[in-house]
Amino acid sequence: MSFKRNILITGGAGFIGSHVVRLFVNKYPDYRIINLDKLTYAGNLANLKDIEDKPNYTFVKADICDFDKMMEIFKQYNIDGVIHLAAESHVDRSIKDPFTFAQTNVMGTLSLLQAAKLSWDGDYDNKRFYHISTDEVYGALQFDGTFFEETTKYDPHSPYSASKAGSDHFVRAFHDTYGMPTIVTNCSNNYGPYQFPEKLIPLFINNIRHKKPLPVYGKGENVRDWLYVVDHARAIDVIFHEGKTAETYNIGGFNEWKNIDIIKVVIKTVDRLLGNSEGTSDHLITYVTDRAGHDLRYAIDSTKLKTELGWEPSLQFEEGIEKTVRWYLDNQEWMDNITSGEYEKYYSDMYKNKL
Ligand code: NAD
Ligand code: TYD
Repeated sequence: MSFKRNILITGGAGFIGSHVVRLFVNKYPDYRIINLDKLTYAGNLANLKDIEDKPNYTFVKADICDFDKMMEIFKQYNIDGVIHLAAESHVDRSIKDPFTFAQTNVMGTLSLLQAAKLSWDGDYDNKRFYHISTDEVYGALQFDGTFFEETTKYDPHSPYSASKAGSDHFVRAFHDTYGMPTIVTNCSNNYGPYQFPEKLIPLFINNIRHKKPLPVYGKGENVRDWLYVVDHARAIDVIFHEGKTAETYNIGGFNEWKNIDIIKVVIKTVDRLLGNSEGTSDHLITYVTDRAGHDLRYAIDSTKLKTELGWEPSLQFEEGIEKTVRWYLDNQEWMDNITSGEYEKYYSDMYKNKL
């Protein structure tokens, strides 16, 4: 079967990637979607169970840092579009192990860029290299009502954001130096189904369920701008198809929350859905030592995306958080498999003979 497009999505077994793969596989049956993922601790093929048998979906287990393998994949699948999400993504891990972040996020992105450049060999007709980045590269804002704009100077503080900034610079350099048709987007904090439970919202939902302490860093006063993950995937779809080459677009929900306030909403929602009376789990809040270099406030101005490409979040936060909490409570097996380490064994056994 020949396909209209052959799109390589990296990191498709992760949190955001799995939503992007699902959206593209279902919405574009005439595109072949190649999901390339190393399946690190954060990659989980159970996130894609509902689409894994679709005829336009292919999974490849590979490391983006393996340049020869990337060359082989571009050739084998005649890749004409890349949506690059594969990365190490957790700030706390980057503080403990910065090398892995530089390796995957910087060198891995460079390896993909170079494979695209050599494979496309200057023929950039209908080609696109779309790199997914984060608002964290812009640094931290004060409580002064300002926002990150596309023109805000990069000022990363954590090893994670420094490595993402490095990868963003390489992507732009490949446009400016070799004319590669690149796009970069910087998105705010995502929440929703299939997020690995080391991140604030799924971790806290799971801990409330198990009556475990909820570790709030510092005073809980840091502010994040939260976007429902499916809305991020919708934005990626619009930008992949209609975004202007070499442009940057910020993606965010104009939805700022102090950590302690969002934690209270999560506690209230979990308690209500579990049938507990209000306040049952409040005592689990535990203030702990702050994260080193903890950025005070992130807030994204996504006006450009709205004005130029007509994208807006489809869900109000109240609706999004209700859906999210419900999903984690209804999918306890997914969570239990991860927290018990079961899924890693299951999927490595299952794919052993196929890869
Ligand atoms: P995630 O950690 O859930 O998933 C990352 C995926 O990349 C995993 O499936 C993992 O197996 C894969 N991967 C890691 N190293 C790899 C390698 N060397 N080769 C191939 N695959 C590899 O991350 P996420 O939260 O889904 O984030 C996806 C992307 O979006 C990242 O680039 C991240 O920086 C960016 N981002 C995330 C957020 C957020 O709130 N989560 C916000 C803005 C931007
Ligand atoms: P996180 O989900 O790790 O995302 P990011 O660091 O990329 O913003 O954390 C969101 C916020 O919640 C951040 O300000 C750190 C804070 N946090 C806690 O207070 N306790 C926790 O256990 C975690 C994981 C995060």
